Amino acid sequence: MIGSSESDPREDELFERCRRLFERHPLIVGSNRGPLEFHSTSEGVLQPRRGSGAIVTALNPLTRSFEFSWVASAMGEGDRRASEVAEGQSIESPLPNQKVSLRYVITPRRMYHKFYNIICNPLLWFLQHRMWSPPFTPNIDSVVYDAWETGYESVNRAFADGIIAEASGKSETPVVLLHDYHLYLVGGMVREQIPEAIIYHFIHIPWPAPDLLQLLPAFMRTKVCRSLCSADLVGFQSTWDVHSFLESCRLFVDGAEVDFNEGIVRTNGRETKVKAFPTAIDVEEVRRIAASPRALDYEQRLRALCGEQTVIRVDRAEPSKNIVRGFRAYQIFLEQHPEFHERVTFLAFLVPSRTHVRQYERYQEEIENVVRGINQTFGSESWVPVQVIYENNYTQALAGMGLYDVLLVNPLADGMNLVAKEGPVVNKNNGVVILSEATGAYEQLKVGALAVAAADLQGTAEALYKALIMSSEERSQRNQELIDVVSSENATHWLLSQIRELDSISNQLPQH
Ligand code: G6P
Repeated sequence: MIGSSESDPREDELFERCRRLFERHPLIVGSNRGPLEFHSTSEGVLQPRRGSGAIVTALNPLTRSFEFSWVASAMGEGDRRASEVAEGQSIESPLPNQKVSLRYVITPRRMYHKFYNIICNPLLWFLQHRMWSPPFTPNIDSVVYDAWETGYESVNRAFADGIIAEASGKSETPVVLLHDYHLYLVGGMVREQIPEAIIYHFIHIPWPAPDLLQLLPAFMRTKVCRSLCSADLVGFQSTWDVHSFLESCRLFVDGAEVDFNEGIVRTNGRETKVKAFPTAIDVEEVRRIAASPRALDYEQRLRALCGEQTVIRVDRAEPSKNIVRGFRAYQIFLEQHPEFHERVTFLAFLVPSRTHVRQYERYQEEIENVVRGINQTFGSESWVPVQVIYENNYTQALAGMGLYDVLLVNPLADGMNLVAKEGPVVNKNNGVVILSEATGAYEQLKVGALAVAAADLQGTAEALYKALIMSSEERSQRNQELIDVVSSENATHWLLSQIRELDSISNQLPQH
């Protein structure tokens, strides 16, 4: 519960500011994945579970302490049934430590398919993670145009309607907190209906340089930028993203005045503040899970898979995470350093993700092929050079992170990458983090990590070698540097910096 600890005055400040702000402006959160998912048991009974998204974890301090509305997509049959039972009204979360009232957005399956499987992931996610670059740009054809109009726009409209319905039940104007690339158009739609709302959109993924954004048809990029400019505050993970967004507004929004020093876009007499709020992990919580009996049990089992030295990675099975290149670099390392054969093992914890998106299915096959190739070329009866554990099991992955000598984090682009922050605080070996410069986390963690460029196979192979032969003094010093940075922040601080901004925006509003 925030406000209950005496050790961190920022917790008290967050609690007080939230209390005062939400009293004047009730909070409504909108995100594709919600804080709660319903699953049917074999007897057909609906059982609630905590939602799986990172956003749910990030908003935990608020969810535990304040009553507010959350509008989210019905993800599966269970959510749809729960919403039917509630006759389309909001559902009070039955979970302990969740005071939220949840309104599901239910859209026809075909519409959601176009939204999620054609626009959100292959189009926006790929573009924003720089997986599109000439000449490998995919075609934006009539299928994509249709999915934009009857999938993305329609689901965004349904979210805006859900938020407006939540707001209409309240006497004060709301603070609307929107998350991520699924909902870019919602802010503009809500602004039309509730002109005085305080709207904040936080984007968890990288914002691309304008020349990449230019690959989108003009009407799409303009709608996205304009809608974001109808928010009062737009948040990103890093100062790079902030800069790219400001530059995009300058180029693509007619009449926009951009102040790069202040981080402000002025359009139609409205000011949008643009700022970086790098997401943090809850160090105590992560350590608590890593020290739980369940984690220790996993740890014992995983030890049997480790080599004399162990390289570990933890990722969603996701093309932007650059998993195949990570394995190729390891292969080069094994070719160039036969003295490590039989001694080093690569343990990859991969979480199945977006399995209905064609590109993800193919990527999964590529991963399997490269792993098979390495194990066939180098493996022996007594040595499996790469072992992959495909499972969505956070506790097991944390247990694995306790055991690395090297943690490989080499995404092509990544908003933040929390694995790079979790690893050092649970690792028991003074392990070394190899970190791609293209992650948001790099800005903060470059002090202790070994940097690699995402496409640099030879450089990554050399970084693996350097990490594996590093002296224990250097390992320990680098690891401590990482722990110091990660421990200096937490989810409360992350939220507090945003709430301070919202508070100051609300103080500038005319008083009723
Ligand atoms: C990233 C995005 C989130 C998304 C998550 C999982 O962290 O920023 O918005 O929820 O990936 O992806 P999924 O498509 O499974 O929700």
